[in-house]
Amino acid sequence: MTIAETIHHIGETITIFGWVDTKRDHGKISFIDLRDRTAKVQVVLIPASLDEQSQKNVSEIRPEWVIKLTGLVKARPERLINPDLITGTVEIEATSIEILNQATTPVFPLDQDKNEISEELRLQYRYLDLRRSAMYRNLVNRHKVNHFIRNFLNQKEFLEIETPILTKSTPEGARDFVVPSRHENGSFYALPQSPQQYKQLLMAGGVERYFQIARCFRDEDTRKDRQPEFTQLDMEMSFVEQEDIMQLNEQLLIDLVTQLYPEKRIQTIPFPRISYSEAMEKYGNDRPDIRENPEDPDVLAFCWIVDFPQFEKTEEGNWTFSHNPFSAPKPEYIDDLIAKSNIETIISTQYDIVLNGFEIGGGSIRTHNPEALRATLSILGYSDELIEDSFGHMLTALASGTPPHGGIAWGLDRLLTVLQNESSIREVIAFPKTGDGRDPMMQSPSQIHLDQLLELGLSVLKKPSA
Ligand code: AMO
Repeated sequence: MTIAETIHHIGETITIFGWVDTKRDHGKISFIDLRDRTAKVQVVLIPASLDEQSQKNVSEIRPEWVIKLTGLVKARPERLINPDLITGTVEIEATSIEILNQATTPVFPLDQDKNEISEELRLQYRYLDLRRSAMYRNLVNRHKVNHFIRNFLNQKEFLEIETPILTKSTPEGARDFVVPSRHENGSFYALPQSPQQYKQLLMAGGVERYFQIARCFRDEDTRKDRQPEFTQLDMEMSFVEQEDIMQLNEQLLIDLVTQLYPEKRIQTIPFPRISYSEAMEKYGNDRPDIRENPEDPDVLAFCWIVDFPQFEKTEEGNWTFSHNPFSAPKPEYIDDLIAKSNIETIISTQYDIVLNGFEIGGGSIRTHNPEALRATLSILGYSDELIEDSFGHMLTALASGTPPHGGIAWGLDRLLTVLQNESSIREVIAFPKTGDGRDPMMQSPSQIHLDQLLELGLSVLKKPSA
């Protein structure tokens, strides 16, 4: 039985399991609050009600010890009801206590405000940190969001498909994490920055509707809204236009908020659509916070940003893609793209979804015409050899009868951060990395053994000091 269920068993002897949250001695009688994932309950420990071994155990137990407790559920007198506790109407009079495991004194008090404890320490002892009800609640709601998304997309006939983690470097703008190959010393896999190419190849494979709750890896500096490994809700559809994808995603977001976060209010439905140029002009960025009152934590101001330029100039004066090289231009610009003319005026089918000032997702219709992709890559300055080497498989796939297709990916961690009223995405990830990409609990990254290096044909150079 869980602790939350005890309130339905007044007058019965029950057995519960959990952690000693606090212990208070009042002469002969002691009280503990026993905690499990569902709730805390007050337990009264009266020596006369306990067997001898249990009395001894009571004298020893301390906070965070793990116990099995049997006792009688009693209704609290009216004046002692605690409305702040799920179990505030009852208390348990213990008849037996068994110690399942002892605990060292926690390195930080679990009832202390998490913002007052160093994050390094919280991450080093993340399993203690996760015992706080607020952290558990974040995990529960994250689970519910994933579950909701899976149900919604299943009903719309999407297939959930896993794509490889050991893959090849893709041009998405960030640095890759690489994994050395044992079979081909000197060659490397890259961890995916997103499943972008695989999901397009699934469309080439006739899947038509794909989604994945996908892990993505980008070797970039961590910030409050950025992790080196993070999770996307990734999806792709065939035979659709920009409007179809935007409407489906808008509906999914509205349904998700309405059902899982009924206390929240979506500021404007349908979500406002703002062109990239208007956003830059009016707000100075392309992820505007359009909340009428940013102080109110329960308002969700979603908006779409559309009409991005297809290409941008780099500092060196070359063209680069504004989203990814696979995005298609709006249909009226296709001829310009293939002719490589009026490059600066080409508008992309890209759309970003923004929530309270965070970019929580982005996608586009893709180029399914191999000539158009080749033109894009050549505008970006890639040589024919590089195009063949890096994109040959995509060009061949497009030429094999790939349907028109498009998709989107949400930054799930960012969405959850806003929904949970948290200030950093680290609060909604069970085991996040520090700002400089470390896991202080596992102590990763770490050096590997010389034998492993030899097997991989690697030697380690010391970085020259700057
Ligand atoms: P993009 O690179 O815009 O698009 O990523 C999609 C969304 O993922 C989130 N995101 C991140 N979240 C946490 N930490 C990070 N380091 C991080 N980087 C990105 C953002 C972003 O909006 N393949 C394309 C999608 C597509 O076109 O379908 C892609 O990855 O919320």
